[in-house]
Amino acid sequence: MVSYKELGLVNTREMFKKAVKGGYAIPAFNFNTMEQMQAIVQAAVETKSPVIMQVSKGARNYANATILRYMAQGAVEYAKELGCPNPQIVLHLDHGDSFELCKDCIDMGFSSVMYDGSSLPYEENIKISRQVVEYAHKYDVTVECELGVLAGVEDEVASAVSHYTKPEEVIDFATRTGCDSLAISIGTSHGAYKFTPAQCTRNAEGKLVPPPLAFNVLHEIEKKLPGFPIVLHGSSSVPQEEVDTINKYGGKLPDAIGIPEDQLREASKSAVCKINIDSDSRLAMTAAIRKYLAENPSHFDPRQYLKPARENMKKMYIHKIVNVLGSNDKL
Ligand code: 13P
Repeated sequence: MVSYKELGLVNTREMFKKAVKGGYAIPAFNFNTMEQMQAIVQAAVETKSPVIMQVSKGARNYANATILRYMAQGAVEYAKELGCPNPQIVLHLDHGDSFELCKDCIDMGFSSVMYDGSSLPYEENIKISRQVVEYAHKYDVTVECELGVLAGVEDEVASAVSHYTKPEEVIDFATRTGCDSLAISIGTSHGAYKFTPAQCTRNAEGKLVPPPLAFNVLHEIEKKLPGFPIVLHGSSSVPQEEVDTINKYGGKLPDAIGIPEDQLREASKSAVCKINIDSDSRLAMTAAIRKYLAENPSHFDPRQYLKPARENMKKMYIHKIVNVLGSNDKL
């Protein structure tokens, strides 16, 4: 058993309290690679932002659970080396799909876990969420649970359709599970294809315009659970300049579309205090690598193309922190 406190990590409790009060959201960036980790830490340190580094089950399978845990520990030391004496870094399990997986992460030093029982019948979701919360709280680890289903595909999590969270269920769910934060479904979705062209309208230039988020559902939930930390998954904005770069240099991402950043900015000002972003990092990395390799066909040292990839991700993370979530200068 390794306590996250020994690793210099923090849980989400105080961070969320301040974010809800202050009208901003904490960035939750997924990572699988060293370059993503470095870019996240550099961005958080430069902007003086707390940050959640999250690991999915797929990331654990790809990179190895032990390596990722040591990378998070390394992230804390790296932040200090970059001049941040007291970094606020959370190591979070994204979409834990069983009690055993959540327990394994808690035992190996995660400071926060998500148990995602959103695809289960309501009572079963409550039962396992409660079990995770009871175990996690013994070690002061915070727990995110989910009600409502997001559409889209992300690692092992997939659903063809979304079901908005039912505001009439949230008090019962939060009370009986004892969860520390609640992920809700209000129209965001996982991946780089959040809406089909048929779900969108087109603007004057013929570009797709996605349907708005269901702010009415969010506000109903806020009324039922005043001040309770709310989480938005599936919140990449799928920047069109990255998609265009990928397509220009041999990629094929037709009609990729995300959540407009002004809507995420609006959500950040509410009880939404954690916003999950993964696809935008993948796009920033792939766009930079495709461009670099197309322009430098004779290069083959991974450092040559991973360096611009890391810089492009860092630029994106800083933009999200400062211009979308508003978590800069909150350390
Ligand atoms: P995106 O695919 O929109 O980046 O969502 C990531 C996410 O919600 C991780 O849980």
